[in-house]
Amino acid sequence: MIVQRLREIQNKFGFLPDKALRELADEIKVPLYRLEEVSSFFPAFSLERSNPPQVEMRVCRDMTCHLRGSAKLLDPDKGLPAVAAELSARTGKSVCVEGVSCLGRCDRAPAVWVETRPLPKGVHAWVYAQANKAQLTEVLTALADGKAPAEPDTDETYEPFTNSNRPHAEVKISATETGRAAGWSLDVYGRQKWPRDYRAVKRFTDYLKALGRPIPKPPADMGPKDLDTFVSRYHPLMYELKTANLLGMGGAGAPAYGKWLDVWRAFSDTGEKYIVCNGDESEPGTFKDRELLLRMPHLVVEGMILAGLMTGAGAGYIYIRHEYFEQIHAIEEEIERAKKLGACGENVFGSGLDFDLQAYESPGGYICGEQSALIEAMEDKRSQPRNRPPELTTNGFRDKPTVVNNVETLAWAPAIVMFGGGGYEKGGWTDSTKAVKVGGRRLFSISGDVKRPGVYEVPIGMPLRDLVMEERFCGGLVNGALRAVATSGPSGGLLPAKVPCPNLSAEDRAGIVDGIAKRSKADADLMKWFLDTHVPPGAKEFDLLDVPLDLTFYRNMQSAFKLKVEPMLGAAIVVYAGDVDLLAEAVNFTEFYRNESCGKCVPCRLGSQKMVQIGTDLLKRRDAGKPCTGDELKKVTGDVLDMTKTLQLTSICGLGYVAPIPMATAVTYFANDVQKKPRG
Ligand code: SF4
Ligand code: FES
Repeated sequence: MIVQRLREIQNKFGFLPDKALRELADEIKVPLYRLEEVSSFFPAFSLERSNPPQVEMRVCRDMTCHLRGSAKLLDPDKGLPAVAAELSARTGKSVCVEGVSCLGRCDRAPAVWVETRPLPKGVHAWVYAQANKAQLTEVLTALADGKAPAEPDTDETYEPFTNSNRPHAEVKISATETGRAAGWSLDVYGRQKWPRDYRAVKRFTDYLKALGRPIPKPPADMGPKDLDTFVSRYHPLMYELKTANLLGMGGAGAPAYGKWLDVWRAFSDTGEKYIVCNGDESEPGTFKDRELLLRMPHLVVEGMILAGLMTGAGAGYIYIRHEYFEQIHAIEEEIERAKKLGACGENVFGSGLDFDLQAYESPGGYICGEQSALIEAMEDKRSQPRNRPPELTTNGFRDKPTVVNNVETLAWAPAIVMFGGGGYEKGGWTDSTKAVKVGGRRLFSISGDVKRPGVYEVPIGMPLRDLVMEERFCGGLVNGALRAVATSGPSGGLLPAKVPCPNLSAEDRAGIVDGIAKRSKADADLMKWFLDTHVPPGAKEFDLLDVPLDLTFYRNMQSAFKLKVEPMLGAAIVVYAGDVDLLAEAVNFTEFYRNESCGKCVPCRLGSQKMVQIGTDLLKRRDAGKPCTGDELKKVTGDVLDMTKTLQLTSICGLGYVAPIPMATAVTYFANDVQKKPRG
């Protein structure tokens, strides 16, 4: 694979030397332009002609790091770039400090990545977290002087906050080894104190052996009801995913069962099918998969094997962002362990089925997390999203049926196979009167102005208030009263602490609930409970903290409350309190999308820049004492909302869809910040 070979060269030298590229082209017999085509796309690859600096520090400039002052660290005159300039002049070495997109350490913001060229043997990079300017100056000075820098902040030594009552307790891995468990119900082995022996895979292979023949395939034209009966009868362990109603945990929330079923049923002319784990986790504010990959790699590996055996795929790739180098090693080691146990590779547990599994180190870049762009990168192309249809479940990796699942989605599979989908469903939230019940559990990464930023497993449907305020979770706010929450990293923009809503009559309420009930009675019950409990007659707003952490509820909120901007719920929650400047934060979110747009389609490429320009102009005018107000502000708001619609209708992928949302929420909900700078 070209991309993987380029990544190896980049890791070895810290850049891509021309000579190494020519040698690679000769060795793998591809024209040099193919290597140029790929290497020039990924920002994490440094070409020799770009004169990569000898010492390079990259400071995360996104959400939580921005909130924690990374813009000051990056100030060209008073920040680290000025230090770098002095060091370059004194030592004669090229020393550079620049911004970078989220490094996945948002719970320890600001996060910083440091490399030297050449890197000392055995060093991938140095990562520092929550370091101040003086400490980072020492790191730069040491490296510029050719000395070892301060000890980095590794993920392995960092104990993140969790809601576990047995935080990273020692548990048995095998007869002779011990490991650590977070105490989440997702970690079925830690919870049950079982050795990590791949018993969910064993359960499936035992089922196959007892069946004594391949699982029969349903006829292609079978209707949904008959299909359910068929799968529950002949493929009962896969059907447990449906019982669980396990949704994709990467953001889009597509049912995991649907993808597995489609790939199992899909025709492949060569018989090839693939499973890809999307561990590219690059959305600012998201870091839950970092913990799963590092501390519970056995769950991810077992989820991959289950997906492979159940869908008939013979090979799988665990695609991990390159900044998670500790996690890549943990997964590689776990794959080797699984192979030794007979749970992976040829003839898995004597079933006659093979499943080859390997880790895949991402070339780098947020767009690689888009599932079709990720497949493009794996096919040695520029990582640009595909037009769909066809879907990946029929025409994915190498044009073959492919499941792409998020790390957490796969990590839930062993628990579901061992205890059934009903067990997962029962883990959801119910209100104190037991009037409503929501199914399932999931992880959230939460950071920003809370006492204990971390990764928490929560019952789906639990109010945001519990996650933010309760001692077993984040333990409350810091820096003042709540102002806003980004409930889906930057992609949902900023929702205000008090969400405006129209005065809803009894008729309106009944209409909202009846409308939702046509799709799902459980969702309608939840909305009814919310309206009855938190939106009394005459209310013109409701409290964001009361909103259930449920993806479908968020999807129903826009039409129910006539919100001008679509609210979103993702795996990343960032909390903003006190006198934070929310216009500046929204511009920061928009800059992220502008920077990460792959440029394939015009609306996103130009629209994201236009949104940055609008936000920057509003900021400049406000700070110069000539804010945009009155009719002019109304016009700008209208323009932003119109542009939002245009981008959402015309962009190829989700990045273009969400790129305008931060500015749309800023002008809709935070007009005060547009007109007057908060003290902070
Ligand atoms: S929407 Fe943006 S990121 Fe997505 S394909 Fe178009 S230009 Fe690329
Ligand atoms: S590491 Fe900075 S926002 Fe994630």
